[in-house]
Parts: sequence; structure tokens; C-alpha cells
Amino acid sequence: MADKKRAFSGIQSTGKLTLGNYLGALKQHVSFQDTYDAIFCVVNLHSITVRQDPKELMDNTYDCVAWYLACGLDPKKAILFAQSHVRAHAELSWVLSTFTQVGELERMTQYKDKSKQHKQNVNAGLLTYPTLMAADILLYNTDVVPVGDDQKQHIELTRNVAERFNGIYGEKFIVPEHYHPPVAARVKDLAHPERKMSKSLPGKGCVLLEDDPAAVLKKFKKATTDNEDQVRLDAENQPGITNLLEIYAATQGISSDAALSQFKDSRYGDFKVAVGEAVGASLAPVQDEYKRILADRGFMDSVLKDGSARAAEIADAKIAEIYEAVGFIKRG
Ligand code: AMP
Ligand code: TRP
Repeated sequence: MADKKRAFSGIQSTGKLTLGNYLGALKQHVSFQDTYDAIFCVVNLHSITVRQDPKELMDNTYDCVAWYLACGLDPKKAILFAQSHVRAHAELSWVLSTFTQVGELERMTQYKDKSKQHKQNVNAGLLTYPTLMAADILLYNTDVVPVGDDQKQHIELTRNVAERFNGIYGEKFIVPEHYHPPVAARVKDLAHPERKMSKSLPGKGCVLLEDDPAAVLKKFKKATTDNEDQVRLDAENQPGITNLLEIYAATQGISSDAALSQFKDSRYGDFKVAVGEAVGASLAPVQDEYKRILADRGFMDSVLKDGSARAAEIADAKIAEIYEAVGFIKRG
């Protein structure tokens, strides 16, 4: 496998996954398993930076695992595991936090947003969240990180921390690249196309992965458009229509231009129905798989056990190398 480049990504186990998570993350991630040595992690340590109900956190973790598998992740090819099962994440995060300036962390937009959203709980973990994310990535000698646009700043920080560490201790870490998906890097809310579709802002414009075709269609029929009366790709002036074209393109695996040429003469009403039906139809088989897998925790546990054993093999070697570089006495 050494000739394949390594891809690593993570997804938080908080709340119900959306169409944005599917098109911008899950579906893209799974497509990496054939060409890359791919590792996917359900980042439950990150989740507790916002207060969680224990049962819900556990259910949501299984939920993510089930969606990954339903989307076609093959546990024989890619590694799928839970972050809390591999101790080296917390260990490396500590080391990296001493190579990260508080000022750098305070500048992260996600930190600023979340500390506004959760004013009563601006905990230290919320601030050091990116050092844990850097640890996730750097532990596995990752070449590329497929992740949505909103995470670009965290990848930049990861690169800076890796370079800083390498500058002092020699080339210990691979400096990873951000992989930007060709389409649907940022799926917008159907009702508010100026903002990202997000599981933390559920509502009538947010399509949940578990929505059945009728519910999906209903949301698309109500999608906000404009008064231009012409289907165009123009994110600036027609954000709603452009979002629908991009969603359609990502769903069908075609370019946005190809989607446009299919709908450029359509009326808005017909266009919305066509996109809603296409999305509903593409999700239905994934949902069936999801339900089947979710009912079988034994199977998910075995996937996680095998995944964490394979992940730990890589991560433990890396943390030993880093501890040695820093000057910690060898274990055992
Ligand atoms: P989050 O839901 O913010 O925890 O994100 C999990 C993954 O889904 C990350 O890779 C995000 O970048 C991606 N993601 C979340 N929302 C969207 C969206 N609306 N469009 C595209 N990608 C998204
Ligand atoms: N911060 C990412 C998000 O909110 C999740 C994440 C944690 C992640 N660790 C990662 C993504 C490592 C990619 C690689 O979406």
C-alpha cells in the first residue's frame, strides 16, 4: 500500500447528518477508497467541546458509522474507526498544543462562531479543537485531507504546526494538502441560500439524509429562488438557483455546466421538482442500507474494532517517534 497516497478525514458525531454532509463529505470520502490508502474517523472527542447528552452522543456515533457504510465505505479497503478508541490522538494533541500559539487558535473562525453560539461554555477544548484535529491528521502521515471548504483554516493551521515542529526536530510530519471537492464544496440551505446547509441550523431548508423522498421533494419545492426567471449559474446574483444546479450536478456525478445545459430552458417550478426527485431517488437506496446497518450494532462494533486496531498500529508508531524526538523516555 506504500505506493498509494494517504487520505484522512473525520466527521463529527453530533446531530443528524444533512445533504451537505453527504455531498460535501461522505460521498466524496468514500470515492477515495479505491485510489488512496483511506482512513476515516468519527471524531467523538471533538464532539464533547459542545456539551453532549451521553446516550445521544453514542447513538450519533453509531449513526455516522452506519451512514459511512451505507454510502459504500468498504471496511476491507478503507479504515473506519472512532477517535476515542485510539489513544494517540489525545496524546499527540497535547504535544501539538505546545507548538500552537493561543493567538493562532483565537483567530479561528469556527472558534469565534462557536464561542458566540455557546457563550455559557467557552471551554478550553473549544479553543484547542484545532490541535486535536491536527493530531488526527498528522498521526497518519496524511497526504490529503478531503474536507469541506469551512475547514480550510484548520488545515492551514495543521500545516503551520507541522512545519514548525519539523523545523525544530527534523522532518517528522508530512505536511498535508487540503482536497477541495470539484462540486458541492458548500451546499447552501434551500430556504436561505446565502448560508451553508448545516445540522446545527435545521429547518425547512435543511435536507436531512434520513428524509424520505416525499419530504425531500417538499423541501425542494419550497426552495428560495429569485425573480430572474432564467436558470443560470450565478452564485452572486442567483444563489438559490445556483445551489440547486450544484446539488443536482453532485447528485448525478456531472459538472455544473452539464446540469445547466439540462435545465437552462426550464421553468423554476419544474426545475425544483426535477432536482427534488433526483435527490430523493439517489438517497432512497442509501437510506435502506443505513436502516439495515443501524439495526446491527454487533456488525458496526466489529468494523470499529478492526478499524481501530489498524489505525492504532500506525498511530502508535507515530506517537513513539514523536515522543522520542521530544525527549521522552521510551515506554516499557
Ligand atoms: P459538520 O457537519 O460541520 O461537522 O461537517 C462534517 C463534514 O461535512 C465536513 O467535511 C464539512 O466540511 C462537510 N459539510 C458540512 N456541511 C456542508 C455543506 N453544507 N456543504 C458541503 N460540505 C459540508
Ligand atoms: N473539524 C472537522 C469538522 O468539523 C472534523 C474533523 C476533526 C476532521 N478531525 C478531522 C476533518 C481531521 C478532517 C480531518 O468537519
